Amino acid sequence: MKIPQTIIEKTANAKHIAVLTGAGVSAESGIKTFRDPDGLWAKLNPAELASIDGFMANPKMVWEWYQHRREIIASCRPNPGHYALSELAKIVPKLTLITQNVDRLHQQAGSEGVVELHGNIIENHCFRCRAPFAEAVDLTLSEPPLCPKCGGQIRPSVVWFGENLPEGAMEAAEEAAAQCDVFFSIGTSAEVYPAANLPIFAKRSGAFVVEVNPRRTAISSYLDATVELASGEALPLLLDGVKKLKGII
Ligand code: OAD
Ligand code: ZN
Repeated sequence: MKIPQTIIEKTANAKHIAVLTGAGVSAESGIKTFRDPDGLWAKLNPAELASIDGFMANPKMVWEWYQHRREIIASCRPNPGHYALSELAKIVPKLTLITQNVDRLHQQAGSEGVVELHGNIIENHCFRCRAPFAEAVDLTLSEPPLCPKCGGQIRPSVVWFGENLPEGAMEAAEEAAAQCDVFFSIGTSAEVYPAANLPIFAKRSGAFVVEVNPRRTAISSYLDATVELASGEALPLLLDGVKKLKGII
């Protein structure tokens, strides 16, 4: 399956493109998704590993799990999907990249101004006073270090279930969804809210909404087009099509 020409034309002519990405975008980099049959939540319990209660009940176990994920992520590199998005941003008037991913692979691929809805796994802050913890953390450290300000335990700066999104992130994402003329929902199951509202919100605000995902999701039937391909394959094809239309190659 190639990319339908309508999608290429809408993308090439857009004044503002908004893109929402999820774990599927990093799958081809070797990072497991959450809700696929071999995903992280198939075997592990998010209430234990990704919630405030889970951390309070067993901070060492939660800390060790994130340290393990950090090790995996540190060995992974952006894939052609990440690079295609960062290149696309350079040849269109405006592109807002909104991600649920915490791995920072979009930034590694050169994307700028990424809206991180679920924080990131690279940084840490204090569980108690929320002060940022800027010290480098050795990946072999198996217990959370303590906050120099209040003695509280340090945690990764990812958003857990039941927590608020980082300040300003959802507002920036909603503004882009409302203003864009083309919206892409890529590599996300669209099951986690409020992020999953964004494609629907963009559609209601008049955008042409495209999903890129090898499998259909809960929102596929509401959208204007679906590209049932892996993002590492689809996005370079889209980029090539847009470049050709714009006379860049
Ligand atoms: P999910 O694991 O829920 O969904 C991943 C989606 O990626 C699925 O719909 C797959 O079909 C699709 N997919 C798999 N491989 C792909 C590929 N190569 N190219 C494109 N798509 C592919 O991941 P998210 O939707 O990101 O929360 O999950 C949302 C949130 O739930 C995550 O941010 C995380 C998790 O709990 C936090 O960390 C707070
Ligand atoms: Zn503190």
